[in-house]
Amino acid sequence: MRDCRIGFVGAGGVADRHARMLSGFPEVRVVAVTDPDEPRRAAFARTHGARPVADLAALLDSGVDAAYVCVPPFGHGQIEEAVAAAGLPMFVEKPLGLDLTVPEQVARTVADAGVPTAVGHHWRYAASVRRARELLADRPVRLVVGAWLDKVPPVPWWSHRDRSGGQAVEQAVHVLDLARLLAGEVTEVHAVAGAPANGGDVDGATAAALRFADGAVGTLAATCVLGWKQRAGLEVFADGLAVTVTEDGMAVRTGVDEPVWEAVDPDDAKRAADRAFVDAVLGRGDDVLVPYAEALRTHRLACALARSVVDGRPVRVAEDRDG
Ligand SMILES: NC(=O)c1ccc[n+]([C@@H]2O[C@H](COP(=O)([O-])OP(=O)(O)OC[C@H]3O[C@@H](n4cnc5c(N)ncnc54)[C@H](O)[C@@H]3O)[C@@H](O)[C@H]2O)c1
Repeated sequence: MRDCRIGFVGAGGVADRHARMLSGFPEVRVVAVTDPDEPRRAAFARTHGARPVADLAALLDSGVDAAYVCVPPFGHGQIEEAVAAAGLPMFVEKPLGLDLTVPEQVARTVADAGVPTAVGHHWRYAASVRRARELLADRPVRLVVGAWLDKVPPVPWWSHRDRSGGQAVEQAVHVLDLARLLAGEVTEVHAVAGAPANGGDVDGATAAALRFADGAVGTLAATCVLGWKQRAGLEVFADGLAVTVTEDGMAVRTGVDEPVWEAVDPDDAKRAADRAFVDAVLGRGDDVLVPYAEALRTHRLACALARSVVDGRPVRVAEDRDG
């Protein structure tokens, strides 16, 4: 069996998670890591048996088969351009960037380079999400109610809009991705936000109304002012059917039986996302559910929501420029 040699760009929390998942795949080796935070890249290298290298050029020279781009939202752009120029597949963590400027350019570059891509919208790989799709397949969605009610994540860049992009772009984008998957494309969004919290300039609370192309309407509520994660997920309503989906389970109500919470292990979806990417790198599968171009559609929605808050008016969601 051929080995798959992975290099990591960024050695923080999510990189560590991916590397742990990959360590369970016998044919995968994490061979190199770069991060400007030298102690961090050294620690990652020790933990995962990789070689710490000074910069991206050295990583791309080290004979990797693919790269994981696990940098904060402000760090995207040149990395993806360089990985694509090297002709390598890449797994890019969400969000794709702070706004649309970098991701639109990167999308063109990776399409031209023809390299396999995957983005960290792992919720789509959950058994609960698959089941929700099946249940909704033949029933028009009427209403979508999304929420991300949480604390500020423990990373220094998150509370600053010019580092993270804000809560909708950085965090609630998982729920927006699920909304697109289960109810179709959003054409228009109108969002309002409350005052910043926790010493940064990211909105402390956001409320948005969504209009879907297929006739559904929806809401998204987000806050980061709690000291705990209250809830993150989506409720979807169709005629005679209510489906609740979160990262760790689902409930279905039809009015016949009492709804029962069916738990799923979120690690299963995270592992499946890494598995699908590795299989694509090895040329033995086409199971990546969210390649870069698909993630860009969700990112456009998140950016439209953020734009609506700033402009104080409804915003149409940018459509595919490549048709
Ligand atoms: N899909 C998910 O479930 C999930 C979960 C957690 C985080 N994330 C996303 O992953 C990204 C990273 O999050 P994190 O929690 O790992 O952050 P983190 O701050 O823990 O780690 C980011 C690392 O990237 C490094 N970095 C910054 N610029 C770099 C560059 N140019 N080259 C190489 N390294 C660079 C930083 O030094 C830092 O060590 C965020 O966009 C976040 O939204 C996704």
